[in-house]
Amino acid sequence: MTMKDAKLVYQDQELALSSVEGTEEEVGLDIRALRATTGAITLDPGFGNTGSCQSAITYIDGEKGILRYRGYALEDLAEHASFVSVCYLLLHGELPTSSQAATFDQRITEKMGVVPELAHVLSGLPQGSHPMTVVSTLLAAYGAHASTAAEQDEEEAFITLMAQFRSLAALTYRHVAGLPFRQADTSLSFSGGFLEHMFGTDEQPYRVSSVIEETMDLLFILHADHEQNCSTSTVRVVGSSGATLHQSLLAGVGALSGPLHGGANQAVIEMLEMIAADGGDYGKYLAKAKDKEDPFRLMGFGHRVYKNFDPRARLIKRLADEMLRELGINDPLLIIAQELEKAALSDAYFVTRKLFPNVDFYSGILYRAMGIPTDFFTVLFALGRLPGWMSHWVEMKHDPSTKITRPRQIYVGPNHRTIA
Ligand code: SDX
Repeated sequence: MTMKDAKLVYQDQELALSSVEGTEEEVGLDIRALRATTGAITLDPGFGNTGSCQSAITYIDGEKGILRYRGYALEDLAEHASFVSVCYLLLHGELPTSSQAATFDQRITEKMGVVPELAHVLSGLPQGSHPMTVVSTLLAAYGAHASTAAEQDEEEAFITLMAQFRSLAALTYRHVAGLPFRQADTSLSFSGGFLEHMFGTDEQPYRVSSVIEETMDLLFILHADHEQNCSTSTVRVVGSSGATLHQSLLAGVGALSGPLHGGANQAVIEMLEMIAADGGDYGKYLAKAKDKEDPFRLMGFGHRVYKNFDPRARLIKRLADEMLRELGINDPLLIIAQELEKAALSDAYFVTRKLFPNVDFYSGILYRAMGIPTDFFTVLFALGRLPGWMSHWVEMKHDPSTKITRPRQIYVGPNHRTIA
């Protein structure tokens, strides 16, 4: 990376700042000496202008709506790769050969079995629990049974956790749907086997249509990574303390559950259902979203980084059109979503703020078409994002510049006072 200088003039001081330029010509001003030299810190709530690391995993150009994993355009990977191959790519930095992909897939399949003790954990959870709470509980409990040796070999830990989390996600669905505990059928693909593990019964094996299997696999690819988003940053922050990969993932699941982040896919459908129940009057909800006095936000719209179309939203929207047509499903929520999008994209409030549909705006329409309940959508997001979280954790561990994350603050509380 070339280094360019920058100058900061502060009170009577002039501070030369070195900078780092990335392979896509992004520039980061290195402020590591700022406080020692000037006594001042930067202030950037939400870190919207602050780089936390240098990473070679994912590149986003928010202005141009570009998303690449290890240099490959998302559109290319969606067209030519499987989710398991994308997992390999994110971790190792290169797409696998066909034999590497087959071996990687086989090693994941071999790790799908869940310790039966987790059935007791599930039996202690109310059936009406939110699926993100259930899967977090299962992931935590899994850690009590997992051999810590697996964490010594990062690829082995990655493979084991991909397999285990897929099983725990399926068991989460089964628990909230009132279905019995059951092990995965390991004769199927990652995505087909996941859907079978969710919906199948020993009496009635579930065979997904190829359309649904391919759609599920593609949705996992589209969710696999997104550089320093809230949950991935959380995984890095927790891992920077020396916490295990497993503990770091637990934190990532928690961060993803928020409605401003991964929980938005559930919130979008709830919003569309509310509009449908209100006579389909989407104009009323656009007005609410624009009203500063109203806490209502247009869920599935806007993004910290994309100030153009989220490339994932384009792909998911097209997929929704194709799949619903292929399955002969006429979902009124899709019509409302399309009309809402069209109205927002011609409304000055959204246009001037560069608010476009994001990955969550249409994904729920597809999940509904697969018969998946709304409150389970974010578990699917977590399963898709798992390889991204783990790849960033591994990259952070091997980065010599990694330090424990510990931001500073500006104190605005009471000055020193004594107890009278
Ligand atoms: C994901 O970071 C990632 O990469 C995340 C993700 C990933 O793959 O990991 O892409 C996944 O989380 C996608 C985002 C899902 N969340 C939603 O769809 C929730 C709705 N969106 C908003 O809450 C919001 O857009 C955020 C949280 C996504 C982004 O918030 P920012 O960057 O902090 O933007 P902001 O709040 O500073 O908004 C700027 C302006 C404000 O208005 P003004 O103060 O300038 O007048 O835009 C307005 C906001 O009020 N605005 C919205 C809006 N989003 C922003 N107004 C109405 N509806 C919205 N959705």
